[in-house]
Amino acid sequence: MTRVAVVHGPNLGRLGQREPAVYGAVTLDEVNQALISWGQAHDITVEAHQSNLEGSLIDVFEAGVGRLDGAVINPGALAHYGLALRDCIAALPYPVVEVHLTNVFQRERFRRRLVLAPVVAGQITGMGPLGYRLALEALLERLQGGWPRPSGENGQTEGGGRP
Ligand code: DQA
Repeated sequence: MTRVAVVHGPNLGRLGQREPAVYGAVTLDEVNQALISWGQAHDITVEAHQSNLEGSLIDVFEAGVGRLDGAVINPGALAHYGLALRDCIAALPYPVVEVHLTNVFQRERFRRRLVLAPVVAGQITGMGPLGYRLALEALLERLQGGWPRPSGENGQTEGGGRP
């Protein structure tokens, strides 16, 4: 059975209470339960993790080697500067899809820098909690050999893809 991890970074444990005008009223537990149920309906085991610590997120990804088929991550603010997390994802044998609840490009300037971008399979930003399910669907499509294809096979030669 396909096994995927949904990994949430710093401050996402307080989803629902944290700046609800920005991030909404849905709690992380509700997000995770919806993904786990969706997974059960599609024969996929979804396991959820959250940590405020970059090293703990890396531990989750490393422990997933040989066990996970893929992962979805909302890295929180680590998306903008988490280079150790970036290096970890670059070395993983399984694909990772990045999610942001908010449209980071419509917000403060510092949020436009996304350091994981070159090493993730793709990104979904600005779709709220729906983004996680879309990311899971994209991951499965990829695991089944469909789109999105691995970097460098999409015809681009700029931005990190292989020529
Ligand atoms: C976020 C966007 C990040 O810039 C921010 O630091 C977060 C949440 C999002 O889901 O929109 O913690 O990742």
